[in-house]
Amino acid sequence: IPVPVFDLVVFGATGDLSHRKLLPALYWRERDQQMPSGSRIIAVARTRFSTAEYIAQIEAACREHVPADSFQEDVFARLAERITYVPLDVSRDADWSALKAALAGGEDRARLFYLATSPDLFGPICRGAGAAGIVTEKSRVVLEKPIGRDLASAIRINDEVGAVFEESQIYRIDHYLGKESVQNLLALRFANSLFEAVWDRAHIDHVQITVAETVGVEDRAAYYDRSGALRDMVQNHLLQLLCLVAMEPPTSMDADSVRDEKLKVLRSLRVIRDGEAVQKIVRGQYRAGAVAGRTVPGYLEELGHPSRTETFVALKAEVENWRWAGTPFYLRTGKRLPTRVSEIVIQFHKVPHSIFPRTAGPIEPNRLIIRLQPDDGIQLALMAKDPGPGGMRLRLAPLDIRFADAFKVRYPDAYERLLMDVVRGNATLFMRRDEVEAAWRWIEPILEAWRQSDEPPKPYIAGSWGPTAAIALIERDGRTWFEDSQY
Ligand code: BG6
Repeated sequence: IPVPVFDLVVFGATGDLSHRKLLPALYWRERDQQMPSGSRIIAVARTRFSTAEYIAQIEAACREHVPADSFQEDVFARLAERITYVPLDVSRDADWSALKAALAGGEDRARLFYLATSPDLFGPICRGAGAAGIVTEKSRVVLEKPIGRDLASAIRINDEVGAVFEESQIYRIDHYLGKESVQNLLALRFANSLFEAVWDRAHIDHVQITVAETVGVEDRAAYYDRSGALRDMVQNHLLQLLCLVAMEPPTSMDADSVRDEKLKVLRSLRVIRDGEAVQKIVRGQYRAGAVAGRTVPGYLEELGHPSRTETFVALKAEVENWRWAGTPFYLRTGKRLPTRVSEIVIQFHKVPHSIFPRTAGPIEPNRLIIRLQPDDGIQLALMAKDPGPGGMRLRLAPLDIRFADAFKVRYPDAYERLLMDVVRGNATLFMRRDEVEAAWRWIEPILEAWRQSDEPPKPYIAGSWGPTAAIALIERDGRTWFEDSQY
């Protein structure tokens, strides 16, 4: 679908997300000649400096975040030509007038307001844009997470934004949905008849979703300490992955068909009761340790003050519907874990009966491993005969596809895809209001129980797989976390 001419207004244009993700994504779109001629980028932030100064800042950011052999000066020059910087303080009418002037002539174009700011500003920015008369019929607003820090604040933000924009104009980003590998999950499930037939409780013993990071809180401690892993990762990215695995086949890729199905999954999640939230949901906080051979400080040292914020969560979720009743979904995510990996493991039931002698060795259950990052691909663990004349011995043999080898193309960053989807008006990969609120509704009792509990998060050594309680969580059910070394 062709990309129409657009005007993109980025609020928070001097922030980390703009530097690291948005402007580099636009650079790549420019390089791939996907920016329709005449499209404009209006960068907005509070700092008072000139367009030239802003462009210099962005050039540095692009040089840092685009690999050196892909950075071309002529491409950047084309991008820079589209950029105007407008300093704006939301409470100053004169600044809104300046923004309006920068947008003049674009009234019939797709107009995107990208709010790469703190969520406290979502309401004031939307109100300001409405009052300044710059919200046109073809306007869309893009909201970055976090959409609130609990249900009440999410509802408030949604109300504030909804007072100015229709729901169909609101694009809530979960950048995991923009990842090629996450979309591939849809292809895997719904473009292959092989899997759908066995995609249920009758065939699947359990599902594991792991999003492990090696990084700590870096320079985001102020945000992170108010958030923690449950809000930062589980409420959005992990639950979205769970939805894509568990949802019923939508009737089409149309935005509402897909989002209706995800919403049903969120609404089927078994509510976690108070006692369980404290006893069964594992929350951890890293202490000093070593990750990839480098010693790293503990969370509290990085922070410089006491804190009960969790940097690790492991939990068992249950989807209470006909397809999944009795098949748990184990979720875990954390910072300062031994390796950066995001994967979904679908573990099938064991064979009902073994015809092989005990000397053949154990028969492992089949496993489908959907590796989302770093090198995404799919592995299917099958049992095979160990070659040789010595009789029947069984062993695990993986069928292994790595998409980078299979397709040999550059994988666009999630933001490249998502930005262009907003321009085209395709909301399939964005979260609808009811989805965000349903996710918070499920998270809320956990937050509340933790708030009321005296128990601090369990410590874990940086570079380990989290507190030992996370291992106990799954072993209690007679299962184990999957680790690559199992092959
Ligand atoms: C963000 C979180 O949404 O996702 C970060 O706020 C986290 O804390 C990041 O590091 C992980 O994203 P990715 O794409 O690196 O897996």
